[in-house]
Amino acid sequence: MTRRAKFQTPSGTHDILPGNYQYYKKIYQTADSIVSFYGFSQIENPVFEESELFSKAIGMTTEIIEKQMYTLKTRGGDFLTLRPEATAGIVRAYIQHGMQNLPQPVKLWCFGRFYRYERPQAGRYREFYQLNLETLGEEAPLRDAQIIQIFLNILTELGLKNLTVNINSIGDNQCQPYYKKILVSFLKKHQDLLCLDCKKRLQKNPLRCLDCKREKCQKIIERAPQILDHLCKACKSHFEKVLELLDETKVFYNLSPYLARGLDYYTKTVFEIFSKESSKEGNSKINKNALVGGGRYDNLVRALRGKDVPACGGAMGVERVVEKLKERGIKALKSPTRPQIFIAQLGRLAQRKSLGLLEEFRKANIEVAEALGKNSLIAQLNLANKAKVKYVLILGQKEALEKEIIIRDMRTGKQKTVKIQRVITEIKQRLKKHKL
Ligand code: HAM
Repeated sequence: MTRRAKFQTPSGTHDILPGNYQYYKKIYQTADSIVSFYGFSQIENPVFEESELFSKAIGMTTEIIEKQMYTLKTRGGDFLTLRPEATAGIVRAYIQHGMQNLPQPVKLWCFGRFYRYERPQAGRYREFYQLNLETLGEEAPLRDAQIIQIFLNILTELGLKNLTVNINSIGDNQCQPYYKKILVSFLKKHQDLLCLDCKKRLQKNPLRCLDCKREKCQKIIERAPQILDHLCKACKSHFEKVLELLDETKVFYNLSPYLARGLDYYTKTVFEIFSKESSKEGNSKINKNALVGGGRYDNLVRALRGKDVPACGGAMGVERVVEKLKERGIKALKSPTRPQIFIAQLGRLAQRKSLGLLEEFRKANIEVAEALGKNSLIAQLNLANKAKVKYVLILGQKEALEKEIIIRDMRTGKQKTVKIQRVITEIKQRLKKHKL
Protein backbone atom coordinates (compact mmCIF):
# COMPACT_ATOMS: atom_id res chain seq x y z
CA MET A 1 0.00 0.00 0.00
CA THR A 2 1.41 3.40 -0.95
CA ARG A 3 1.55 5.90 1.87
CA ARG A 4 -0.47 9.05 1.28
CA ALA A 5 1.87 12.02 0.92
CA LYS A 6 1.62 14.33 3.90
CA PHE A 7 1.04 17.49 1.93
CA GLN A 8 -1.56 17.70 -0.83
CA THR A 9 -2.81 20.54 -3.01
CA PRO A 10 -5.38 22.62 -1.11
CA SER A 11 -9.00 21.77 -1.89
CA GLY A 12 -10.16 23.20 -5.22
CA THR A 13 -6.62 23.69 -6.56
CA HIS A 14 -4.47 21.43 -8.69
CA ASP A 15 -0.95 21.02 -9.98
CA ILE A 16 -0.65 21.40 -13.72
CA LEU A 17 1.67 18.53 -14.53
CA PRO A 18 3.92 18.63 -17.61
CA GLY A 19 1.62 16.69 -20.00
CA ASN A 20 -1.38 18.76 -18.97
CA TYR A 21 0.57 21.97 -19.31
CA GLN A 22 0.70 21.39 -23.06
CA TYR A 23 -3.09 22.02 -23.12
CA TYR A 24 -2.65 25.36 -21.36
CA LYS A 25 0.11 26.28 -23.80
CA LYS A 26 -2.08 25.32 -26.74
CA ILE A 27 -4.90 27.55 -25.46
CA TYR A 28 -2.51 30.40 -24.73
CA GLN A 29 -0.82 30.22 -28.12
CA THR A 30 -4.11 29.94 -30.02
CA ALA A 31 -5.56 32.88 -28.12
CA ASP A 32 -2.40 34.95 -28.54
CA SER A 33 -2.37 34.62 -32.31
CA ILE A 34 -6.11 35.27 -32.69
CA VAL A 35 -6.43 38.24 -30.34
CA SER A 36 -3.29 39.85 -31.76
CA PHE A 37 -4.99 39.81 -35.15
CA TYR A 38 -7.87 41.78 -33.63
CA GLY A 39 -5.47 44.35 -32.14
CA PHE A 40 -5.54 43.32 -28.48
CA SER A 41 -2.47 44.09 -26.34
CA GLN A 42 -1.51 41.93 -23.41
CA ILE A 43 -1.67 43.21 -19.84
CA GLU A 44 -0.74 41.59 -16.53
CA ASN A 45 -2.22 42.91 -13.28
CA PRO A 46 -1.23 41.97 -9.73
CA VAL A 47 -2.83 38.81 -8.40
CA PHE A 48 -4.15 40.81 -5.45
CA GLU A 49 -5.75 44.23 -5.32
CA GLU A 50 -7.39 46.42 -2.68
CA SER A 51 -10.51 44.58 -1.52
CA GLU A 52 -12.62 47.67 -2.07
CA LEU A 53 -11.85 47.61 -5.80
CA PHE A 54 -13.70 44.32 -6.14
CA SER A 55 -16.64 45.19 -3.90
CA LYS A 56 -17.12 48.49 -5.78
CA ALA A 57 -16.82 46.84 -9.21
CA ILE A 58 -18.60 43.53 -8.74
CA GLY A 59 -21.26 44.67 -6.23
CA MET A 60 -21.64 44.09 -2.48
CA THR A 61 -24.61 41.76 -2.82
CA THR A 62 -23.15 39.37 -5.38
CA GLU A 63 -22.19 35.77 -4.60
CA ILE A 64 -18.52 36.55 -5.34
CA ILE A 65 -18.28 39.41 -2.85
CA GLU A 66 -20.51 37.89 -0.18
CA LYS A 67 -19.07 34.39 -0.16
CA GLN A 68 -16.09 33.83 -2.44
CA MET A 69 -13.35 36.34 -1.70
CA TYR A 70 -9.95 35.37 -0.37
CA THR A 71 -9.19 38.47 1.66
CA LEU A 72 -6.18 39.11 3.86
CA LYS A 73 -5.23 41.89 6.21
CA THR A 74 -1.68 43.15 5.71
CA ARG A 75 0.68 44.03 8.55
CA GLY A 76 -0.08 47.65 7.75
CA GLY A 77 -3.80 47.03 8.28
CA ASP A 78 -4.89 47.18 4.60
CA PHE A 79 -7.33 44.68 3.16
CA LEU A 80 -6.20 42.94 -0.02
CA THR A 81 -8.09 40.31 -2.02
CA LEU A 82 -6.85 37.62 -4.38
CA ARG A 83 -8.46 38.61 -7.67
CA PRO A 84 -11.71 36.69 -8.29
CA GLU A 85 -11.89 38.10 -11.86
CA ALA A 86 -9.91 40.36 -14.19
CA THR A 87 -12.20 43.17 -15.30
CA ALA A 88 -11.92 45.26 -12.11
CA GLY A 89 -8.10 45.16 -12.17
CA ILE A 90 -7.93 45.96 -15.87
CA VAL A 91 -10.25 48.94 -15.47
CA ARG A 92 -8.20 50.10 -12.47
CA ALA A 93 -5.05 49.91 -14.63
CA TYR A 94 -6.80 51.71 -17.53
CA ILE A 95 -7.62 54.63 -15.22
CA GLN A 96 -4.35 54.59 -13.25
CA HIS A 97 -2.16 54.70 -16.37
CA GLY A 98 -4.20 57.33 -18.23
CA MET A 99 -5.27 54.95 -21.00
CA GLN A 100 -8.41 57.06 -21.35
CA ASN A 101 -6.17 59.57 -23.16
CA LEU A 102 -5.01 57.06 -25.77
CA PRO A 103 -6.90 56.59 -29.05
CA GLN A 104 -10.01 54.57 -28.20
CA PRO A 105 -10.96 51.76 -28.06
CA VAL A 106 -8.18 50.32 -25.94
CA LYS A 107 -8.22 46.54 -26.35
CA LEU A 108 -6.56 44.50 -23.63
CA TRP A 109 -6.23 40.81 -22.93
CA CYS A 110 -4.79 38.74 -20.15
CA PHE A 111 -4.28 35.10 -19.24
CA GLY A 112 -3.81 34.23 -15.60
CA ARG A 113 -4.95 32.66 -12.36
CA PHE A 114 -8.00 33.73 -10.39
CA TYR A 115 -9.35 32.77 -6.98
CA ARG A 116 -12.86 32.13 -5.70
CA TYR A 117 -13.84 30.33 -2.54
CA GLU A 118 -16.37 28.04 -4.21
CA ARG A 119 -17.52 24.55 -3.30
CA PRO A 120 -15.12 22.47 -5.42
CA GLN A 121 -16.90 20.40 -8.06
CA ALA A 122 -16.47 19.55 -11.74
CA GLY A 123 -15.57 22.74 -13.63
CA ARG A 124 -15.57 24.83 -10.45
CA TYR A 125 -12.29 25.40 -8.67
CA ARG A 126 -10.85 27.70 -6.07
CA GLU A 127 -7.90 28.52 -8.27
CA PHE A 128 -8.45 28.61 -12.02
CA TYR A 129 -7.14 30.22 -15.18
CA GLN A 130 -9.11 32.69 -17.25
CA LEU A 131 -8.48 34.21 -20.64
CA ASN A 132 -9.90 37.74 -20.55
CA LEU A 133 -10.64 40.19 -23.34
CA GLU A 134 -11.69 43.78 -22.68
CA THR A 135 -12.49 46.59 -25.14
CA LEU A 136 -12.62 49.97 -23.43
CA GLY A 137 -13.77 53.29 -24.85
CA GLU A 138 -16.33 52.40 -27.48
CA GLU A 139 -20.07 51.97 -27.23
CA ALA A 140 -20.62 50.57 -30.73
CA PRO A 141 -22.69 47.31 -30.70
CA LEU A 142 -20.06 45.97 -33.08
CA ARG A 143 -17.70 45.57 -30.12
CA ASP A 144 -20.18 43.36 -28.21
CA ALA A 145 -20.60 41.15 -31.28
CA GLN A 146 -16.88 41.09 -31.93
CA ILE A 147 -16.01 39.90 -28.42
CA ILE A 148 -18.42 36.98 -28.87
CA GLN A 149 -17.02 36.26 -32.31
CA ILE A 150 -13.42 36.24 -31.06
CA PHE A 151 -14.18 33.76 -28.26
CA LEU A 152 -15.99 31.54 -30.75
CA ASN A 153 -13.01 31.76 -33.09
CA ILE A 154 -10.63 30.70 -30.32
CA LEU A 155 -12.81 27.76 -29.27
CA THR A 156 -13.33 26.67 -32.87
CA GLU A 157 -9.63 26.98 -33.68
CA LEU A 158 -8.93 24.75 -30.68
CA GLY A 159 -11.17 22.15 -32.30
CA LEU A 160 -14.43 22.54 -30.34
CA LYS A 161 -17.67 22.31 -32.25
CA ASN A 162 -21.35 22.62 -31.29
CA LEU A 163 -20.99 25.86 -29.41
CA THR A 164 -24.02 27.77 -28.24
CA VAL A 165 -24.26 31.46 -27.41
CA ASN A 166 -26.89 32.55 -24.90
CA ILE A 167 -27.52 36.27 -25.06
CA ASN A 168 -29.66 38.88 -23.35
CA SER A 169 -29.79 42.59 -22.63
CA ILE A 170 -30.24 43.73 -19.05
CA GLY A 171 -30.78 47.39 -19.94
CA ASP A 172 -29.13 50.41 -18.37
CA ASN A 173 -29.75 53.11 -15.76
CA GLN A 174 -32.77 54.28 -17.76
CA CYS A 175 -34.76 51.07 -18.05
CA GLN A 176 -33.33 48.70 -15.43
CA PRO A 177 -34.82 50.46 -12.35
CA TYR A 178 -38.32 50.14 -13.80
CA TYR A 179 -37.76 46.47 -14.67
CA LYS A 180 -36.46 45.81 -11.15
CA LYS A 181 -39.69 47.28 -9.76
CA ILE A 182 -41.96 45.02 -11.77
CA LEU A 183 -39.70 42.03 -11.10
CA VAL A 184 -39.89 42.67 -7.36
CA SER A 185 -43.65 43.02 -7.43
CA PHE A 186 -43.90 39.68 -9.32
CA LEU A 187 -41.47 37.87 -7.03
CA LYS A 188 -43.14 39.22 -3.91
CA LYS A 189 -46.30 37.42 -4.93
CA HIS A 190 -44.32 34.14 -4.79
CA GLN A 191 -42.03 35.08 -1.94
CA ASP A 192 -42.95 32.06 0.19
CA LEU A 193 -41.62 29.70 -2.46
CA LEU A 194 -38.27 31.45 -2.89
CA CYS A 195 -35.08 30.25 -1.22
CA LEU A 196 -33.70 32.18 1.75
CA ASP A 197 -30.98 33.82 -0.36
CA CYS A 198 -33.52 35.00 -2.95
CA LYS A 199 -35.72 36.43 -0.20
CA LYS A 200 -32.76 38.58 0.82
CA ARG A 201 -31.85 39.36 -2.81
CA LEU A 202 -35.39 40.56 -3.36
CA GLN A 203 -34.77 43.40 -0.93
CA LYS A 204 -31.21 44.29 -1.91
CA ASN A 205 -30.61 43.25 -5.51
CA PRO A 206 -33.56 41.57 -7.26
CA LEU A 207 -31.67 40.95 -10.55
CA ARG A 208 -29.53 38.44 -8.65
CA CYS A 209 -32.67 36.28 -8.16
CA LEU A 210 -32.47 35.59 -11.90
CA ASP A 211 -29.07 33.90 -11.38
CA CYS A 212 -30.36 31.58 -8.63
CA LYS A 213 -29.62 27.98 -9.60
CA ARG A 214 -32.12 26.43 -7.13
CA GLU A 215 -34.85 24.55 -8.93
CA LYS A 216 -37.69 25.98 -6.88
CA CYS A 217 -36.57 29.56 -7.63
CA GLN A 218 -35.96 28.73 -11.30
CA LYS A 219 -39.57 27.55 -11.60
CA ILE A 220 -40.78 30.96 -10.46
CA ILE A 221 -38.22 32.89 -12.51
CA GLU A 222 -39.44 31.09 -15.66
CA ARG A 223 -42.73 32.97 -15.31
CA ALA A 224 -41.26 36.34 -14.33
CA PRO A 225 -41.56 39.43 -16.56
CA GLN A 226 -38.76 39.60 -19.12
CA ILE A 227 -36.47 42.59 -19.29
CA LEU A 228 -36.42 42.45 -23.10
CA ASP A 229 -40.04 43.67 -23.01
CA HIS A 230 -39.05 46.67 -20.93
CA LEU A 231 -35.85 47.95 -22.52
CA CYS A 232 -35.63 51.69 -23.23
CA LYS A 233 -35.31 52.80 -26.84
CA ALA A 234 -31.50 53.14 -26.73
CA CYS A 235 -30.95 49.70 -25.15
CA LYS A 236 -33.42 48.05 -27.49
CA SER A 237 -31.75 49.55 -30.55
CA HIS A 238 -28.27 48.59 -29.22
CA PHE A 239 -29.37 45.01 -28.65
CA GLU A 240 -31.03 44.72 -32.06
CA LYS A 241 -27.80 45.88 -33.69
CA VAL A 242 -25.73 43.34 -31.74
CA LEU A 243 -28.05 40.56 -32.92
CA GLU A 244 -27.97 41.83 -36.52
CA LEU A 245 -24.17 41.78 -36.42
CA LEU A 246 -24.16 38.24 -35.05
CA ASP A 247 -26.54 37.24 -37.86
CA GLU A 248 -24.22 38.90 -40.33
CA THR A 249 -21.25 36.85 -39.11
CA LYS A 250 -23.37 33.68 -38.99
CA VAL A 251 -23.13 33.29 -35.22
CA PHE A 252 -26.05 31.24 -33.94
CA TYR A 253 -27.44 32.38 -30.61
CA ASN A 254 -30.32 31.75 -28.22
CA LEU A 255 -32.19 34.67 -26.74
CA SER A 256 -32.05 34.01 -22.99
CA PRO A 257 -34.43 36.51 -21.39
CA TYR A 258 -33.46 35.58 -17.81
CA LEU A 259 -29.70 35.62 -18.28
CA ALA A 260 -28.41 38.29 -15.89
CA ARG A 261 -24.86 37.08 -15.00
CA GLY A 262 -23.57 37.14 -11.46
CA LEU A 263 -21.73 40.47 -11.48
CA ASP A 264 -23.36 43.85 -10.92
CA TYR A 265 -21.30 45.89 -13.37
CA TYR A 266 -23.10 44.75 -16.51
CA THR A 267 -25.31 47.02 -18.61
CA LYS A 268 -27.04 46.13 -21.89
CA THR A 269 -25.56 42.99 -23.53
CA VAL A 270 -24.74 39.91 -21.46
CA PHE A 271 -23.75 36.57 -22.95
CA GLU A 272 -22.46 33.10 -22.15
CA ILE A 273 -20.98 30.45 -24.43
CA PHE A 274 -21.65 26.77 -23.76
CA SER A 275 -20.66 23.57 -25.41
CA LYS A 276 -23.40 21.18 -26.45
CA GLU A 277 -22.83 17.54 -25.62
CA SER A 278 -24.26 14.60 -27.43
CA SER A 279 -26.04 12.17 -25.15
CA LYS A 280 -26.17 8.40 -25.69
CA GLU A 281 -29.70 8.76 -27.03
CA GLY A 282 -28.36 11.01 -29.77
CA ASN A 283 -29.90 14.18 -28.33
CA SER A 284 -27.67 17.06 -27.59
CA LYS A 285 -27.85 18.72 -24.24
CA ILE A 286 -26.11 21.84 -23.07
CA ASN A 287 -23.47 21.46 -20.40
CA LYS A 288 -24.39 23.55 -17.37
CA ASN A 289 -20.94 25.08 -17.01
CA ALA A 290 -20.37 28.05 -19.29
CA LEU A 291 -17.04 28.08 -21.10
CA VAL A 292 -17.19 31.86 -21.54
CA GLY A 293 -19.13 34.68 -19.90
CA GLY A 294 -19.16 38.39 -20.53
CA GLY A 295 -20.99 41.50 -21.54
CA ARG A 296 -21.02 45.27 -21.67
CA TYR A 297 -20.19 47.37 -18.62
CA ASP A 298 -20.69 51.01 -19.56
CA ASN A 299 -20.79 52.34 -15.98
CA LEU A 300 -17.78 50.59 -14.47
CA VAL A 301 -14.98 52.99 -15.47
CA ARG A 302 -16.91 55.92 -13.99
CA ALA A 303 -17.84 53.90 -10.87
CA LEU A 304 -14.11 53.33 -10.28
CA ARG A 305 -13.55 57.10 -10.59
CA GLY A 306 -12.50 57.23 -14.22
CA LYS A 307 -14.17 59.14 -17.05
CA ASP A 308 -17.51 58.13 -18.46
CA VAL A 309 -16.15 55.36 -20.71
CA PRO A 310 -18.24 52.56 -22.23
CA ALA A 311 -16.69 49.09 -22.36
CA CYS A 312 -17.34 45.43 -22.93
CA GLY A 313 -15.51 42.14 -22.59
CA GLY A 314 -15.61 38.56 -21.55
CA ALA A 315 -13.64 35.74 -19.95
CA MET A 316 -13.08 32.10 -20.82
CA GLY A 317 -12.54 29.45 -18.14
CA VAL A 318 -9.36 27.65 -19.21
CA GLU A 319 -9.82 24.52 -17.06
CA ARG A 320 -13.32 24.04 -18.48
CA VAL A 321 -11.93 24.30 -22.01
CA VAL A 322 -9.10 21.85 -21.20
CA GLU A 323 -11.69 19.39 -19.88
CA LYS A 324 -13.75 19.78 -23.06
CA LEU A 325 -10.72 19.26 -25.29
CA LYS A 326 -9.87 16.05 -23.45
CA GLU A 327 -13.48 14.87 -23.50
CA ARG A 328 -13.50 15.33 -27.29
CA GLY A 329 -10.17 13.55 -27.71
CA ILE A 330 -8.46 16.69 -28.99
CA LYS A 331 -4.71 16.49 -28.48
CA ALA A 332 -2.58 18.96 -26.53
CA LEU A 333 0.45 20.63 -28.09
CA LYS A 334 3.14 18.12 -28.89
CA SER A 335 5.81 17.95 -26.19
CA PRO A 336 9.10 19.55 -27.16
CA THR A 337 11.06 17.50 -29.70
CA ARG A 338 13.34 14.78 -28.40
CA PRO A 339 17.08 15.50 -28.59
CA GLN A 340 19.01 13.35 -31.03
CA ILE A 341 22.39 13.79 -29.34
CA PHE A 342 23.57 12.66 -25.91
CA ILE A 343 26.76 13.83 -24.22
CA ALA A 344 28.37 11.22 -22.00
CA GLN A 345 31.47 12.02 -19.94
CA LEU A 346 33.93 10.32 -17.67
CA GLY A 347 36.24 12.05 -15.22
CA ARG A 348 36.34 15.51 -13.69
CA LEU A 349 38.01 17.33 -16.57
CA ALA A 350 35.62 15.74 -19.09
CA GLN A 351 32.64 16.73 -16.96
CA ARG A 352 33.85 20.34 -16.87
CA LYS A 353 34.43 20.40 -20.61
CA SER A 354 31.01 18.86 -21.25
CA LEU A 355 29.34 21.83 -19.62
CA GLY A 356 31.03 24.18 -22.09
CA LEU A 357 30.17 21.87 -24.99
CA LEU A 358 26.52 21.85 -23.96
CA GLU A 359 26.51 25.65 -24.29
CA GLU A 360 28.07 25.41 -27.75
CA PHE A 361 25.26 23.08 -28.83
CA ARG A 362 22.63 25.40 -27.36
CA LYS A 363 24.06 28.32 -29.34
CA ALA A 364 24.07 26.15 -32.48
CA ASN A 365 20.39 25.36 -31.83
CA ILE A 366 20.94 21.63 -31.54
CA GLU A 367 19.11 19.91 -28.70
CA VAL A 368 21.27 17.71 -26.54
CA ALA A 369 20.45 15.33 -23.69
CA GLU A 370 22.86 14.68 -20.85
CA ALA A 371 23.30 13.09 -17.46
CA LEU A 372 26.30 15.12 -16.39
CA GLY A 373 25.71 14.37 -12.72
CA LYS A 374 26.41 10.67 -13.27
CA ASN A 375 29.90 9.18 -12.96
CA SER A 376 29.31 5.79 -14.57
CA LEU A 377 29.72 5.68 -18.34
CA ILE A 378 27.52 2.57 -18.56
CA ALA A 379 24.69 4.31 -16.73
CA GLN A 380 24.96 7.23 -19.14
CA LEU A 381 25.00 4.99 -22.20
CA ASN A 382 21.93 3.16 -20.89
CA LEU A 383 20.13 6.47 -20.57
CA ALA A 384 21.19 7.46 -24.08
CA ASN A 385 19.80 4.16 -25.33
CA LYS A 386 16.49 4.77 -23.60
CA ALA A 387 16.33 8.32 -25.00
CA LYS A 388 16.70 6.75 -28.49
CA VAL A 389 19.25 9.35 -29.60
CA LYS A 390 21.05 9.01 -32.91
CA TYR A 391 24.52 9.90 -31.64
CA VAL A 392 26.32 9.72 -28.32
CA LEU A 393 29.31 11.99 -27.83
CA ILE A 394 31.78 10.38 -25.44
CA LEU A 395 34.25 12.56 -23.65
CA GLY A 396 36.67 10.61 -21.45
CA GLN A 397 39.74 11.76 -19.52
CA LYS A 398 42.06 10.99 -22.48
CA GLU A 399 39.84 12.74 -25.03
CA ALA A 400 39.46 15.75 -22.75
CA LEU A 401 43.25 16.09 -22.48
CA GLU A 402 43.73 15.70 -26.22
CA LYS A 403 40.85 18.06 -27.04
CA GLU A 404 39.02 15.29 -28.89
CA ILE A 405 35.65 13.58 -28.61
CA ILE A 406 34.23 10.25 -29.77
CA ILE A 407 31.06 10.26 -31.90
CA ARG A 408 29.19 6.99 -31.61
CA ASP A 409 26.50 6.23 -34.18
CA MET A 410 23.84 4.42 -32.15
CA ARG A 411 22.33 2.69 -35.19
CA THR A 412 25.53 1.13 -36.53
CA GLY A 413 27.63 1.16 -33.35
CA LYS A 414 30.49 2.74 -35.36
CA GLN A 415 32.70 5.25 -33.55
CA LYS A 416 34.84 8.09 -34.85
CA THR A 417 37.13 10.41 -32.92
CA VAL A 418 37.13 14.08 -33.97
CA LYS A 419 38.62 17.29 -32.66
CA ILE A 420 36.27 18.93 -30.15
CA GLN A 421 36.17 22.19 -32.11
CA ARG A 422 34.88 20.24 -35.15
CA VAL A 423 32.18 18.28 -33.37
CA ILE A 424 29.31 20.72 -33.96
CA THR A 425 30.03 20.97 -37.70
CA GLU A 426 30.34 17.17 -37.92
CA ILE A 427 27.07 16.62 -36.05
CA LYS A 428 25.28 19.21 -38.17
CA GLN A 429 26.39 17.42 -41.34
CA ARG A 430 25.32 14.03 -40.02
CA LEU A 431 21.90 15.29 -38.89
CA LYS A 432 21.41 16.93 -42.28
CA LYS A 433 22.17 13.63 -44.00
CA HIS A 434 19.63 11.89 -41.72
CA LYS A 435 16.97 14.31 -42.84
CA LEU A 436 17.63 13.74 -46.53
P1 HAM B 1 -17.52 34.82 -14.94
O1 HAM B 1 -18.73 34.34 -15.63
O2 HAM B 1 -17.56 34.93 -13.46
O3 HAM B 1 -17.19 36.24 -15.57
O4 HAM B 1 -16.29 33.93 -15.35
C1 HAM B 1 -15.98 33.70 -16.71
C2 HAM B 1 -15.63 32.24 -16.94
O5 HAM B 1 -14.61 31.84 -16.03
C3 HAM B 1 -16.79 31.29 -16.65
O6 HAM B 1 -17.63 31.18 -17.78
C4 HAM B 1 -16.04 30.00 -16.38
O7 HAM B 1 -15.70 29.36 -17.60
C5 HAM B 1 -14.78 30.47 -15.69
N1 HAM B 1 -14.91 30.33 -14.23
C6 HAM B 1 -15.54 31.15 -13.37
N2 HAM B 1 -15.45 30.68 -12.12
C7 HAM B 1 -14.76 29.52 -12.18
C8 HAM B 1 -14.33 28.56 -11.22
N3 HAM B 1 -14.59 28.69 -9.94
N4 HAM B 1 -13.65 27.47 -11.66
C9 HAM B 1 -13.36 27.31 -12.97
N5 HAM B 1 -13.73 28.20 -13.93
C10 HAM B 1 -14.42 29.29 -13.54
C11 HAM B 1 -16.13 37.01 -15.22
O8 HAM B 1 -15.20 36.64 -14.54
C12 HAM B 1 -16.14 38.38 -15.88
N6 HAM B 1 -15.00 39.16 -15.36
C13 HAM B 1 -16.05 38.24 -17.39
C14 HAM B 1 -16.01 39.55 -18.08
C15 HAM B 1 -14.93 40.15 -18.61
N7 HAM B 1 -17.04 40.33 -18.29
C16 HAM B 1 -16.65 41.41 -18.93
N8 HAM B 1 -15.35 41.33 -19.11
